[in-house]
Amino acid sequence: MQNFENFLLNHLPRSKSIHPHYEAALQKMLLAGGKRFRPALLLGVVNAYNPLMIEGAMHAAYAIELLHTYSLIHDDLPAMDNSPLRRGEITLHVAYDEVTAILVGDALNTYSFEVLSNAPFSDYTRVALIRELATNGGLGGMVLGQAIDCYFENKPLSLEEVKILHTNKTAKLIAASLKMGAIIIGNEKLADILYDFGIKLGLLFQIQDDILDVTQTAQEAGKLTGNDESKNSFVTLLGLDGALVEANIVADELILELSNFDEKLKNELSSLLLEYINRHR
Ligand code: IPE
Ligand code: IPE
Ligand code: MG
Ligand code: MG
Ligand code: MG
Repeated sequence: MQNFENFLLNHLPRSKSIHPHYEAALQKMLLAGGKRFRPALLLGVVNAYNPLMIEGAMHAAYAIELLHTYSLIHDDLPAMDNSPLRRGEITLHVAYDEVTAILVGDALNTYSFEVLSNAPFSDYTRVALIRELATNGGLGGMVLGQAIDCYFENKPLSLEEVKILHTNKTAKLIAASLKMGAIIIGNEKLADILYDFGIKLGLLFQIQDDILDVTQTAQEAGKLTGNDESKNSFVTLLGLDGALVEANIVADELILELSNFDEKLKNELSSLLLEYINRHR
């Protein structure tokens, strides 16, 4: 992922202006790091089938990370989860102010599509990638999930409804990361298979995140933990043990599905996928 970090540094959002800290705020949460899970998924798919396209794929991987980072900045706002810590750093609304955090989120959201629009692919592929990121990261995907998440604070949902919540707020963007890799290499059948796998992977990712909220310290997580009491998390719904059981079931299903992937994909992605599939165990 060294190449990804270099690409990010070379394509940081820039805006020299009379504003004293706008540019620094735009860059702060990107530079703070994070696991870069979604870019790694996309780049892994491309590398498995066509390593020559990896440089172009950086644009798409970075676009997803930009949109994801915007979602985190807004997620931490006082009106949403009200968190002072993200990626081991003080959040933007605390370090600067709420206006700055809102506007930086807006800017990273649109910048992600600017980056994607400049990706060195055919118009057909570029539009397909833009559509995929917008569909999964936007009004019927991540944003819908966040709307449900916040609306139903202190209003308990059923297990099926929480799965819908987690699918939208987290799983769709993770599924899109895998699918966009398949779109770049031009394999539509693989795109559908990986999207379905990614939805399940993303559901597990959010169940694990709910578990980590009660098992990790803020220092370990780099973000506020113990913060989900009013939320419809898997832990508030099922308890820690119940959430772990559910995570194990989904993890085992994913390991089985992974074993049916073709050799190229397995060779490239197995270690990354297994690391995340098993991270709650
Ligand atoms: C956090 O995502 C928000 C969720 C969808 C659970 P990550 O756990 O991928 O956060 P970073 O990118 O590593 O900071
Ligand atoms: C957020 O879920 C998912 C997003 C779309 C950002 P959480 O609220 O559980 O994420 P963390 O725990 O703050 O990272
Ligand atoms: Mg949240
Ligand atoms: Mg949160
Ligand atoms: Mg969480």
